[in-house]
Amino acid sequence: METTRPRGEAEIRQLRAEDLPAVLRYFEELSPESRRTFAPHPFDEEHAREIVATSDGVNSVRLIAVRDGEILGYCYFQDRGPDLWPSVGLGIIDRAQNEGIGSRLMAALVAEARRLGKPGLCLTVHQDNPRALRIYTRNGYRVTGECTEGTQHTMALDLSAEDSA
Ligand SMILES: CC(C)(COP(=O)(O)OP(=O)(O)OC[C@H]1O[C@@H](n2cnc3c(N)ncnc32)[C@H](O)[C@@H]1OP(=O)(O)O)[C@@H](O)C(=O)NCCC(=O)NCCS
Repeated sequence: METTRPRGEAEIRQLRAEDLPAVLRYFEELSPESRRTFAPHPFDEEHAREIVATSDGVNSVRLIAVRDGEILGYCYFQDRGPDLWPSVGLGIIDRAQNEGIGSRLMAALVAEARRLGKPGLCLTVHQDNPRALRIYTRNGYRVTGECTEGTQHTMALDLSAEDSA
């Protein structure tokens, strides 16, 4: 008999080298609309290989939400040099959206950034993406400006300010 897993149930862990086949399946599960709003890089094998190879848990922190061996969501930050805050991305496959997985992944990523002593995190988000905006705002990100001809917000989370609060 098939069992029904509770909505939102998933293990959150670091992406590892052996996850490559699961990453390729994850890419396939992202709809054109999700690819438009996520868009960290092309969703091809070259970039799947790159993200598993660079997942070092320090400079490139890449977290995945896994259920029954399947990657449902992926959230990362990657360093951009000493003068810039790491940039963040988040994408949940369409079938698993609205289950709370994006919220859990982002909370875990922010906790990891804080643990590693990162000064802050930044990202861009389409202004017509209320779910993503809700997650970012609730995690403490604030709008810092606009980009791509005013269609996206730039947002930042200042972790050093939190420390001194
Ligand atoms: C945007 C995305 C990351 C959100 O993750 P998710 O797992 O689907 O979202 P969650 O279930 O964690 O819920 C997000 C929040 O948005 C709220 N929400 C849902 N629909 C909403 C809407 N239309 N307007 C405002 N808030 C909404 C939810 O209630 C929830 O808030 P709550 O926990 O306070 O109730 C995910 O849908 C996704 O990957 N989409 C495609 C790619 C993408 O847009 N990535 C972000 C790029 S910046």
